[in-house]
Amino acid sequence: MPAHSDASTLATREWWRSAVIYQIYPRSFSDANGDGIGDLPGILEHLDYVHALGVDAIWLSPFFRSPQADSGYDISDFRDVDELFGSLSDFDCLLTRAHELELRVVVDLVPNHTSSAHPWFRAALSSAPGSVERARYQFRDGRGEAGSTPPNNWQSLFSGPAWTRLVGSDGVAEQWYLHLFDSSQPDLNWDNPDVRVEFESILRFWLDRGVDGFRVDVARGLVKAPGLPDYPIEFQSTAGGGADGSRSPLFDQPGVHEIYRRWRQIVEEYDGDRILVAEAHVEPPARLARYVRPDEMHQAFNFEYLSAPYSAAAIRRVIDRSLTAYGDVGAPATWVLNNHDDVRHLTRLATGQDGRIDIALGLRRAKTTTAVMLALPGTAYIYQGEELGLPEHLAIPAAARRDPTFARSAGELLGRDGCRVPLPWLPNIPSYGFSPTGTSWLPQPPEWSELSVQRQADNPVSTLSFYRTAIAARRDHGLGHGALRWNSATGPEVLDFSVGEVRVIANLGTRPIARPHGAVVLSTALGEEDPGHVPPDSALWIIENSTS
Ligand code: BGC
Repeated sequence: MPAHSDASTLATREWWRSAVIYQIYPRSFSDANGDGIGDLPGILEHLDYVHALGVDAIWLSPFFRSPQADSGYDISDFRDVDELFGSLSDFDCLLTRAHELELRVVVDLVPNHTSSAHPWFRAALSSAPGSVERARYQFRDGRGEAGSTPPNNWQSLFSGPAWTRLVGSDGVAEQWYLHLFDSSQPDLNWDNPDVRVEFESILRFWLDRGVDGFRVDVARGLVKAPGLPDYPIEFQSTAGGGADGSRSPLFDQPGVHEIYRRWRQIVEEYDGDRILVAEAHVEPPARLARYVRPDEMHQAFNFEYLSAPYSAAAIRRVIDRSLTAYGDVGAPATWVLNNHDDVRHLTRLATGQDGRIDIALGLRRAKTTTAVMLALPGTAYIYQGEELGLPEHLAIPAAARRDPTFARSAGELLGRDGCRVPLPWLPNIPSYGFSPTGTSWLPQPPEWSELSVQRQADNPVSTLSFYRTAIAARRDHGLGHGALRWNSATGPEVLDFSVGEVRVIANLGTRPIARPHGAVVLSTALGEEDPGHVPPDSALWIIENSTS
C-alpha cells in the first residue's frame, strides 16, 4: 500500500481553499482493456494530460464494485474496485503516480444508499420484518387495508415512486423499501448504529490507502424527517423548502450535521490535509454553508453558480451571495459549471435569441463564464471534456441510453448520458482513440474529430489551450486567493471585478465595450481580438497600469 508520506511533498496546508479540481468520470475517460468502458489503467495512461492542464487535484467518480445500474453510484462493495475498472492494485498505482505528479486524489463516497446487490440488502430481503437486517434500511408496511399503498407519497429523483414493494418467494406481497433514486439503490437508515460504524470504517479504508479526500454524494439526504411524513410532490426535488414555507422531510435535516462532524474528526486524524466535499443541493447559500462550518466539511459544490442564467446581474448576485455565505463560516467558495449530472454548460448557454442551439455561440459564452469562474476566490471544479469544448450529445438513440432516469420516466426525461460520452483523444479513428478496440459504451457524435485532444493540443487558439493558459495564469497571478472587488461596470451586461492585480472584464451583452489599457493575460477571443474593445460574449484578464 502506498504510504501517504509521498503526498506530504504536495503543496502547502489548506491547498483546497484555492485549488482547481478536475473531475474524472472513469467510465468515459479512457479505456485501456478494450471493453469500451473506461478504467483506472486508462486514467493512468493519460495522467500526464491531466497534469499538463495544471490542476491541483482529481476527483474520481465511483469505480467501486457495482452492478452499474446507476453507472457506479449503486455500490455493492465499498472497499473494492469493480473489475470493469481494474483492481485495488490499479488504484494504488494510479494514486502513487498522481502523488508523484503532485496531484491530489479525491474519491466519491456514496453513503445515502447501497446497491440492492449489497450483502446487507440481500440479507435484509431474506430476513423478517422488524429484523436487525431490515433495520439498516428504510423498510415500512404499506398503507391501506392490504398494505398496497406506499408508506408515503415521496417520489424518486429519477422519476416514479420512491418505494418498491417486496414480493416473497411465495408470491405474497409484503413490506416496502425506500429508494430516493433507482429501485436498485435502497436508502440506508442512518439512525442505525451499524450504518454509522460501517461508513467510518469505509472512510478509514480509503484514508489508509492514501486518498486525499471524499466527495460526499447526496450529502443532504442521509437523515430523513422522523416518521417519514408526506410532502407535496411538487416541492420534492427543490433544493430549499416548499413554497408553503415548509422544509422538505427528505433532505437537509438537522441530523446530517453530526455525521459530518464525526467524519471531520476522522479525516483530521490523518496527515496530509485531506478533505470532505459536500454534494448537497441546498438553498439558499447561507443554508448550504452550514455543511462547511469549521468542524464539518471543507467545501460544498456551489450548484447555484452552475444553474445561474447567462446574465451579468444574475451571476454577480450568485457570486456575492456565495462569497458572503461561505465567508461567514470561514469556508472557501466553490465554483462549478459542469459535472456528470448536468447538461454541459456549452450547450446550456448555446440557445440564441431565435431559440435555436448555436454551438459557436455556446462555446464563446462557455469560455466567458469559465474565465470568470477561474478568476474567483475559492476552489474551481472542471469536469472532463469541458476543456475540449465538448457540447452535450443530444442525439443519443433511445436504445443506447443508459441513465436509469430515461427508462424510469418512460423517455420523458432524457437523463444524463449526453454529458457522459467518452472523450475523444485522437481524430478520425473509431471511438476517437478512447478504446484500443474502437468501441465506446455510449455512442460519440460523428463530428468530434476536431474536438479531439490531439487536434487541440498544439493549436494555440483551441479551447484546450485556453484552459491551460487560464489555469497557468490563475496560478501565476495568485488567483483563487484574495478578495474580490467590483469595479463600476461599463454596462448592465458586464461583469467587471478585480482580484489582486488582475482585472476581469466579461461582456455578456450584445455590443462591444471599451476596454481599459493594460497587459492581457487571458482572452477568450484569442485570434479575434479588437485592441480597443471587449467583444460581446468574451472576457479578458488584464493587468492595468502596464504598457502593452
Ligand atoms: C450523483 C448522481 C447519482 C445520485 C445517486 C448524485 O448526486 O451525482 O450521479 O445518480 O447521486 O447516487
